[in-house]
Amino acid sequence: MTVELSAAELPTYTRWPVEIARGEGSTVWDTSGKSYLDLYGGHAVAATGHCHPRIVEAIREQAGELLFYSNVVALPVRTRASEAIIAQAPAPLSKVFFVNSGTEANENAMRLARRFTGRSDVLSFHGGFHGRTSDAISAAGLAKYRELGRPNVPGHRLAPFGDLAAAEAAADEKVAAVLLEPIQSMAGVVTAPASYFQGLRRLCDERGAKLIYDEVQTGFGRTGTFFFAGRHGVMPDLVSLAKGIGSGVPMGAVLVSEGIAQTVQPEDYGTTFGGGPLACAAAEATVRVILEEKLIENVRAGSRRLVDGLSALPAVREVRGEGFLLGVVLDRPCKPVRQALLERGFLVGGSDLPDVLRLLPPLVLTQEEIDRFLVAMSKVL
Ligand SMILES: Cc1ncc(COP(=O)(O)O)c(C=O)c1O
Repeated sequence: MTVELSAAELPTYTRWPVEIARGEGSTVWDTSGKSYLDLYGGHAVAATGHCHPRIVEAIREQAGELLFYSNVVALPVRTRASEAIIAQAPAPLSKVFFVNSGTEANENAMRLARRFTGRSDVLSFHGGFHGRTSDAISAAGLAKYRELGRPNVPGHRLAPFGDLAAAEAAADEKVAAVLLEPIQSMAGVVTAPASYFQGLRRLCDERGAKLIYDEVQTGFGRTGTFFFAGRHGVMPDLVSLAKGIGSGVPMGAVLVSEGIAQTVQPEDYGTTFGGGPLACAAAEATVRVILEEKLIENVRAGSRRLVDGLSALPAVREVRGEGFLLGVVLDRPCKPVRQALLERGFLVGGSDLPDVLRLLPPLVLTQEEIDRFLVAMSKVL
């Protein structure tokens, strides 16, 4: 099956051979009516599943009331969304700045750190990905993206991920921020031990730099806690969010510590669309659905089932990651495996490593759906 690219679209992505028409829960249907179990979630975006009725209702209701007004006025729905998100964030993260995407969240997190410290540089890590606008792409640890962003913003430096001594050597008095994905997704789902995160926190405190967690993928319950921030007793100063926070309505956000927030003046930062009513209605409903439907508990139980089932397959070398952000290391290239899964009605992601499949399913994925996927994986492999 091949799906033609529309002649009117710039060919920015290699398209999967499928044309999706609708979705419900963890299932999507193509234009011919064939169903697919979606373990990719539109790239970790369909957090509450596709078209969750409470999200759809919240968006519909908000669209009928007020489609848009900018940040020059207060909006009840923005107040509710910000309070709902901050209620889940560990102290000292106490304020939220709404933007529109993950890359914009990272741009603003870096700017907040630079302005607060009066320093210029940012330390990020090999394997990391933070978005495609100038500053964020300059922080990419995957060289192919950094190259696409040339000329890069000056003052970016890289260290190997997971190597504390290397970070110590790289973080001098010019470094305003240490920016990392706590679980590097695109790099093939790579993480580090608790001591590494604790060491980075200590290093930032000693050298006067700010610690930024890029939680664009790990945030909002995906890894089995609401945020990665707070895990291992480590509190970052800034957290960038996007992907699933609006369950599909475009939205990004930066969580800001009290100390940094106190130095921000009106007009220092801005965006026209960020914090718009539609996105805020979706984000507020997303938080409530995650909490009230106990989706984090579902992620933990589902993750155990997935990891146990996949680890038992002889062709699987390793399953890494946490919650519903998993990398499945195969003993063979994953491209034909993904194609065979797609033909059987299962969507999974690839990664920067040719032998690592990525699973980023909706947080509502059920045990029955997991078992169906495990049977398909066993047959395909
Ligand atoms: C960890 C991480 N940070 C940032 C981004 C950029 O987000 P966006 O595409 O919304 O700009 C992505 C996107 O894949 C991501 O995975």
